[in-house]
Amino acid sequence: MSSSSQTQHGGGFFAKHHILEKNPILLVLGILIMVAIGGLVEIVPLFYLKSTIETVQGMRPYTPLELAGRNIYLREGCYLCHSQMIRSLRDEVERYGHFSLAAESMYDHPFQWGSKRNGPDIARVGGKYTDSWHVAHLMNPRSVVPQSIMPSYRFLFDTPLDTREIAANVTTNREVGVPYTDEQVANIMADLKAQVNPDSPEAAALLKRYPKAVVRKFYPGSPEITEGDALIAYLQMLGTLVDFSQFDDKANLR
Ligand code: HEC
Repeated sequence: MSSSSQTQHGGGFFAKHHILEKNPILLVLGILIMVAIGGLVEIVPLFYLKSTIETVQGMRPYTPLELAGRNIYLREGCYLCHSQMIRSLRDEVERYGHFSLAAESMYDHPFQWGSKRNGPDIARVGGKYTDSWHVAHLMNPRSVVPQSIMPSYRFLFDTPLDTREIAANVTTNREVGVPYTDEQVANIMADLKAQVNPDSPEAAALLKRYPKAVVRKFYPGSPEITEGDALIAYLQMLGTLVDFSQFDDKANLR
C-alpha cells in the first residue's frame, strides 16, 4: 500500500507516521520522549508531597525488646514462610483482619511484607494466642498444630538475649528516620529490662514511652531474658497498635 492511499484514509498526523516507522533512530528518540513525559507526570508530583504515607494514629517505634525480637525474626528467616501484608481482598480480610496499611510498616527497616506464605500471614497475630501457646509452638509446632511443617526453634529459649547491640540498633533506626525521642534513647536498657518485669517501677515509664507495649515475662521458664522472650514480645504486638474498631473493614472489598 502506498503512502498516498494512507493519506486518503487518515491524513494529518498519522499520515507522517511512516517517517518514524522507517527510521529506527527517530523512532527510538520518539519513544524516549514519550516515556520521559510519562515518567515526569508520575514522578514530579512526588517532590511536592511531604510524605506518601498517611499518618495513622497509634503507630509508634518498636520497644527495644520488640526490636530485638524483630532482629531474631529476620535472623531466623521467618519471613521466608510468613508474610506481614494483608491484601484488600475479601478472603484475606475475613481470615486475618483489616487489610494492612502502609503506615503500619513505616518504622520497619526493612519492611517484612514477605513474598511467600508457607505459613499464614502474621501481620495481626498479636494477642491472637497466649504467650504459653507461642512458647509451645516455637519449641515444637507439632505439639499444638499436629500437621504443621514449621521448624522447631527450641534453642531460642535456652539462649540468653544478646543485648550488646540493641542500643546501636535503636540509634541507627533513629538515623534512618524512626522518630525515637531523646528520652526513649536514654532509657534503652532500662526499657528492655522493664518489659519482662511488670512489677518493676520502670514498667509504668516504659508504657508511657511506648503505649500498648505488652509487659510480661513471656517465657517464665527462664529467669533470664531469652531470645524467645524477645521474639514473643514482637509477635504479641504485631498489628495491635492501630485501633481498627471504628472502621468497617469489609466495605469496598472484592
Ligand atoms: C518452613 C516454613 C516456616 C518457617 C521458616 C516458619 N514458619 Fe511459622 N508457620 C509455618 C506454618 C506452615 C504455620 C501454620 C501451622 C502452624 O501453626 O504451625 C506456621 C504458623 C506460625 C504462627 C501461627 C500463626 C497463626 O495465625 O496461627 C506463628 C506465630 C509463626 N508461625 C511464627 C513463626 C516465627 C516467629 C518463625 C521464625 C522463628 C516462623 N514462624 C518460621 C511455617 C513456617
